Amino acid sequence: MPGQRQKRDFLALPDFSRDELEAVLDLARRMKRGEYREMPFAGRTLGMIFTKSSTRTRVSFEVGAVQLGGHPIFLSARDIQLGRGEPIRDTARVLSRYVDALMIRTFAHSDVAELAHFSTIPVINGLTDLLHPCQVMADLMTVRENFDDDLSSLAVAWIGDGNNVANSWLNASFRFGFELRLACPEGYGPDAEILERARGSASVRVTDDPYEAVRGASVVNTDVWASMGQEEEHGQRARAFGRFQVDDALMKAAAGGAIFLHCLPAHRGEEVTEAVLEGPRSRIFDQAENRLHVQKAILATVVANGEGE
Ligand code: CP
Ligand code: NVA
Repeated sequence: MPGQRQKRDFLALPDFSRDELEAVLDLARRMKRGEYREMPFAGRTLGMIFTKSSTRTRVSFEVGAVQLGGHPIFLSARDIQLGRGEPIRDTARVLSRYVDALMIRTFAHSDVAELAHFSTIPVINGLTDLLHPCQVMADLMTVRENFDDDLSSLAVAWIGDGNNVANSWLNASFRFGFELRLACPEGYGPDAEILERARGSASVRVTDDPYEAVRGASVVNTDVWASMGQEEEHGQRARAFGRFQVDDALMKAAAGGAIFLHCLPAHRGEEVTEAVLEGPRSRIFDQAENRLHVQKAILATVVANGEGE
């Protein structure tokens, strides 16, 4: 329709330009400081579809929607007809008639892309098997709080599984151009296409040596060895990932003043030791808090798109 604005989805970090991502991070900081009092979600409703468990994502989106003046609805896939086989495309078109934005956490990334394609309202990715963009936005906010607003001069290490969070870090290095080294066991590397794209605009290295990855890095990141949906592979993964634990010795090999990040939930004694998780370099609870601020900023950005013009 003439004059109609394209709706904005946030399925992956590259859906937004670098300037837009920086604007979201700036807005999130203003929100955290209490400098933002607007209610862009007033009278609006956020539908939140979950086919996987969640503590942080569910609660931070729910609280965030309320703080922006809106109303969230938690939709467990177990309870809605989607879980009984109603097609995603029908769910998308029905929910678009009721709510003003959707957040979804599920398995296949293609399901989220289909939901977004058939929805007439913004869709936000709250984690798929491929990506976890809201998490990495919170991680970037935490990194900015500890270092510099300009993320491009950063060196970041990822230790362990080349999973959804790792892939979103690759997307972040694609957009911001910072150096990223991933130490993954053979066969557990990141998505090949996402890796290639990131290599086009940033220095990205994949190694099987955690010490090589952390050398000079100011940020050391890890995540669970078996993600949601991979529970049955836990034994096999624990054997493959034995050398990929973040402990004090590995943190010492990173840059002086390096911080430790983990999206949580964490498995103490597996991917990270208790001492690192609870130690002075750990920023895990700031990271968790920042989910709230950054997601509010994303919500405000996608719902306000095209308004006031
Ligand atoms: N980090 C994260 O997404 O946590 P939840 O699984 O609790 O939402
Ligand atoms: N990689 C983890 C992240 C959990 C927030 C998973 O997908 O289970």
